Amino acid sequence: MSEHRRLAKFLVVSAASFFIGTVHGLLQVVPPVRHWLDSIGSPYGGPGHMIDPLAHAHINLVGGVTLLVMAMTYYLLPKALGRPIYSVRLVEHSFWWTTIGVASFYIALLVFGFVEGHFWLADPAKVPEIHRYYGPVISIASTILAIGFWIFFANILITFLRARR
Ligand code: HEM
Repeated sequence: MSEHRRLAKFLVVSAASFFIGTVHGLLQVVPPVRHWLDSIGSPYGGPGHMIDPLAHAHINLVGGVTLLVMAMTYYLLPKALGRPIYSVRLVEHSFWWTTIGVASFYIALLVFGFVEGHFWLADPAKVPEIHRYYGPVISIASTILAIGFWIFFANILITFLRARR
């Protein structure tokens, strides 16, 4: 059993995020979808902005790239320093907080984008009523995501500082 087996899930979720992100990216250019997104404000504002570019950018850049960079750093830093990572428990925490954070961030952007987008065209007076839930929901998802980043950063920094000592 490789000592790095725990990093496999970072790579799998990264690949899955790129898959979702590329399907999302393709759908965004299909003419009827593109027309609908433009009619609800994408990419400049309104509910369309939540779907394109926000959800698309973050599933690819956070789900895809950042989780891959985390796995590579957890693999390479011990080799570069000749010391193990400070905490394996924090490796696990950084994975789950970041994965649950990016998933909830992406789903929240899509759900509010679609629901508000529907009412943006069908009954605009209803949009503010729905949008007042957006702030709290996206703040919770963003906080979970940020905690994942900060745990990763702390684990890397402590590993580096201990190696220097
Ligand atoms: C806790 C983590 C993060 C949160 C809460 C967050 C939140 C946001 C928000 C709210 C915006 C939209 C600003 C606007 O209204 O235009 C944004 C834009 C963006 N973010 Fe993040 N972000 C996070 C991490 C990241 C990371 C790690 C990357 C890249 C690796 C990234 C890449 C982008 C890009 C490229 C845009 C611009 C999208 C565009 O308008 O084209 N974000 N982010």
